[in-house]
Amino acid sequence: MNSEITYAEVRFNNEPKSSGAKSEPPSAPKEKTNPHKSDPSFPKLLLASLLILLLLLAISFLIAFIFFFQKCSHIHKEKKTLKDIPHTTLECMKENLTMEDKAWSCCPKNWTSFSSNCYFISTEAVWDDSEKKCSSMKAHLLVINTKAEQDFITQKLDKNSAYYVGLSDLQGKNSWQWVDQTPYNESATFWHSGEPSDRNEHCVILNFRSLPRKWGWNDVVCNQRQRSICKMMKIYL
Ligand SMILES: *[C@@H]1O[C@H](CO)[C@@H](O)[C@H](O)[C@H]1NC(C)=O
Ligand SMILES: *[C@@H]1O[C@H](CO)[C@@H](O)[C@H](O)[C@H]1NC(C)=O
Ligand SMILES: *[C@@H]1O[C@H](CO)[C@@H](O)[C@H](O)[C@H]1NC(C)=O
Repeated sequence: MNSEITYAEVRFNNEPKSSGAKSEPPSAPKEKTNPHKSDPSFPKLLLASLLILLLLLAISFLIAFIFFFQKCSHIHKEKKTLKDIPHTTLECMKENLTMEDKAWSCCPKNWTSFSSNCYFISTEAVWDDSEKKCSSMKAHLLVINTKAEQDFITQKLDKNSAYYVGLSDLQGKNSWQWVDQTPYNESATFWHSGEPSDRNEHCVILNFRSLPRKWGWNDVVCNQRQRSICKMMKIYL
């Protein structure tokens, strides 16, 4: 009896459970459908705002990345240009922003600047070595492009010295050539009267003649030791 009772009890207990489970679903789905009915709009809103947030984040990351990349490449460029310069000290001037984003124009210390170039008065050497000295400083022997440039340079020179410039006729065929391949323009030359005078003189100096008291060009032999002038483009930072 006891076992029957317990069995009956178990059965009884089981039945309500299963029936409850069976009866619950109809009510539970109702409860679940109600949240489901409000759910579709709620997660959609959440999803939408999440998406927007993600999009904004992505955009800001992109912007940040672009800025960073530009800065990096800019710094890289600066480092590259600075690395190329064998000079330890630069003297810079704030210049008009004519060249976009390049505000500082620099010449190495002890060089003088005129227009967009830097000039350095070098010590005595033969013509070849003078050019080598200039190119070791990322410059070349003076190429005179205008009378104004020559007049500026000559103010800085010693009237008792002669200075090699970057003009030569190394083949001796009276075909004068500038070291930087600037075309030789006959109507923009400043030879002393009577110069060039000798086919065996292949190099050019800039010197002062007291008669008629002016600076001009003279052809000389290339193995004379003379002072010289180096010229380079200003460095823009
Ligand atoms: C800068 O620009 C102004 C106006 O264009 C001009 O007057 C001035 O001479 C310029 N300065 C230099 C150093 O180029
Ligand atoms: C510049 O010239 C001065 C004086 O001649 C010299 O002492 C100095 O070392 C020079 N500086 C550079 C960077 O060549
Ligand atoms: C040569 O120089 C003259 C005088 O400065 C100038 O007028 C002319 O344009 C120049 N020619 C060339 C080809 O550069």
